[in-house]
Amino acid sequence: MGHGTKLEETEGPKDVIVINRRSFFGVLLGIGSAGMGALLAVPVLRYVLYPLYAKSKQSGWSVVATADELSNLSQPVLKTVDFKQLDGWREVDSSQSVYVTKGADGQLKVLSAICPHLGCSVSWQKGQEQFVCPCHGGHFAKDGDHLAGPPPRGMDSLPHKVQDGNLMVHFEYFRSNVPNKEVLS
Ligand code: FES
Repeated sequence: MGHGTKLEETEGPKDVIVINRRSFFGVLLGIGSAGMGALLAVPVLRYVLYPLYAKSKQSGWSVVATADELSNLSQPVLKTVDFKQLDGWREVDSSQSVYVTKGADGQLKVLSAICPHLGCSVSWQKGQEQFVCPCHGGHFAKDGDHLAGPPPRGMDSLPHKVQDGNLMVHFEYFRSNVPNKEVLS
């Protein structure tokens, strides 16, 4: 009886130590596996989710009109530009309306016809000599400056250049309803 009691006393702590070592290595292994899994998952998740968080974008320049056609511009002219847009993994053909007008310095400006308030189409009203948005009554000057109504900024001007006798534009989308232009693509 006394002998049995001794065994229990001496073996008890050993068992505890063995179990603790196993648990410790098990935990280490678990942490290691989880870490490796997380490391491997990051690029996979980025690849899978890329189209969801990536903004659709387009690159390149589109022809607006010949430079000759715009040489005697006295009123803003509405043009449609075509471009390729990368939407997630797909490349899609897109087109948008722009206005070619002149700035206060007499230089050509290309303005997006998308209202910077909530995205309706702005149109030039010759009688009023203003751009007007029909949705909430946004008014803009001939050079795109904001005059009245809820839009928080003027019409968005687009990068443009004259190349081989053509006026070219790089069409971009901008965040709506914020005071400063923020390019979305
Ligand atoms: S969308 Fe143009 S004024 Fe609101």
